Amino acid sequence: IPVDPFDLVVFGATGDLARRKILPGLYRRFVAGQIPETSRIIGSARTEMDAAGFRAFVAEAIEEFLDVKKRDADSVARFLDHLHYVAVDAKGDGGWPELAALIRRDVVQAYYFSVGPSLFGDLAERLHRHGIATPNSRIVVEKPFGRDLASAKTLNATLAEHFDESQIYRIDHYLGKETVQNLMAVRFANILFEPLWNARHVDHVQITVAETVGVGGRGAYYDKSGAMRDMVQNHLMQLLCLIAMEPPYRFDPDAVRDEKLKVIHALLPVEPDDIVRGQYRGGGKKGAAPSYAEDVGDPATRTESYIALKAHIANWRWKGTPFYLRTGKKLRGRASEIAIVFKEVPHSIFGDEEGWRENVLAIRLQPNEGMNLSVMIKEPGPGGMRLTEVPLDMSFAEALGEDGADIPDAYERLIMDVIRGNQTLFMRGDEVEAAWAWTDPIIAAWEARGDRPKGYDPGSSGPEDALMLLHRDGRRWREIRE
Ligand code: BG6
Repeated sequence: IPVDPFDLVVFGATGDLARRKILPGLYRRFVAGQIPETSRIIGSARTEMDAAGFRAFVAEAIEEFLDVKKRDADSVARFLDHLHYVAVDAKGDGGWPELAALIRRDVVQAYYFSVGPSLFGDLAERLHRHGIATPNSRIVVEKPFGRDLASAKTLNATLAEHFDESQIYRIDHYLGKETVQNLMAVRFANILFEPLWNARHVDHVQITVAETVGVGGRGAYYDKSGAMRDMVQNHLMQLLCLIAMEPPYRFDPDAVRDEKLKVIHALLPVEPDDIVRGQYRGGGKKGAAPSYAEDVGDPATRTESYIALKAHIANWRWKGTPFYLRTGKKLRGRASEIAIVFKEVPHSIFGDEEGWRENVLAIRLQPNEGMNLSVMIKEPGPGGMRLTEVPLDMSFAEALGEDGADIPDAYERLIMDVIRGNQTLFMRGDEVEAAWAWTDPIIAAWEARGDRPKGYDPGSSGPEDALMLLHRDGRRWREIRE
């Protein structure tokens, strides 16, 4: 889809997210031919720098964060021609007149607030005070979008003072992942699945986002959040919504977001017994690998680096089908997967068949994006009717050839959606608030009880108690496999 010429300002352009994701992502879109000739990318931060300095900075970021196969010197040089830089003071007036002079009013304008939420209001206000923003400008904001319902409401209200909801793009980068969008394609472009997509046929759903990394240098932020705020309230919640929502009447931003919102409203409060929180221990020889508490520098910390919980959706489609969610750091593999586990056949004509397993549709978000449907077949050979499970395995990289191997990063897709003015894959303000409204009492309850997270070994599948969460329902987690 063609893209109109644009001016994109990246506030926080020298920050980590810009360096890792936004700027290399824009380069990749340039290579794909999606950055029109006259478009400009304007870096902005407090640091004084000229355009040449910024171009060198971006060239380095591309080299550091993009695989050598994904870049070449010639296109990098041409991409750098699109870059500009203006230093601004988010809390003062410095730099704003220069920015105002640079920005064109007759092209698409987008402002990426790649800064902490405490600066959202300052930036939004100055974009107006200096006559830069127009009714067509778009702003992009990142998580964390608040840390509870009250702070999310305040943020929404601050942004609403300056921009209309149709101009605000709240990023949840999980929505930009190719397989996550595929989830909608699978559900709504095939007749096969939708008739089975309900409590009558689905035994339960597992959503796993397992990471091998620890909290690393992000301890200061992470320790105030924990896995519930950092991952469940946003990424896992979004995945749950896309699986559970009713078919929207059209693939249109508000139609999709209305359906997701209904799912969040239908979520029941989670019982304390249905939550397991964990914290990774140190590991390796002589404590070579630091524990979570050491990583964040607080021996008394009670923040969870792992969480598993059982959620229920109180509506006609899902009553009785639990959704098990789990996510954690320093687990045995980096593997994100959604598994739809179907029920048993109503009657086995083969008698009590040992080999029988339930059908599972597993949608793998990363790595090795793809889908896998396990089906039962007859074991080959003359030994009678023995059943065995085989996977109908579709790796996107294999099935789609080169196109599949070159799946764009989530940020690439989302930034281009901002330029195109398509909000479907962005969170609406009411969605974020509803997600916090569900999360807040869960956190408040464990804080009131003074619960401590259970320890788990790095490289494991999480705390033992998390296994029990499913065992006691006669179920088991799928293996975490890279
Ligand atoms: C971020 C979280 O939103 O998502 C991180 O703050 C987490 O803690 C990251 O590591 C995971 O993203 P991805 O794309 O690597 O799965």
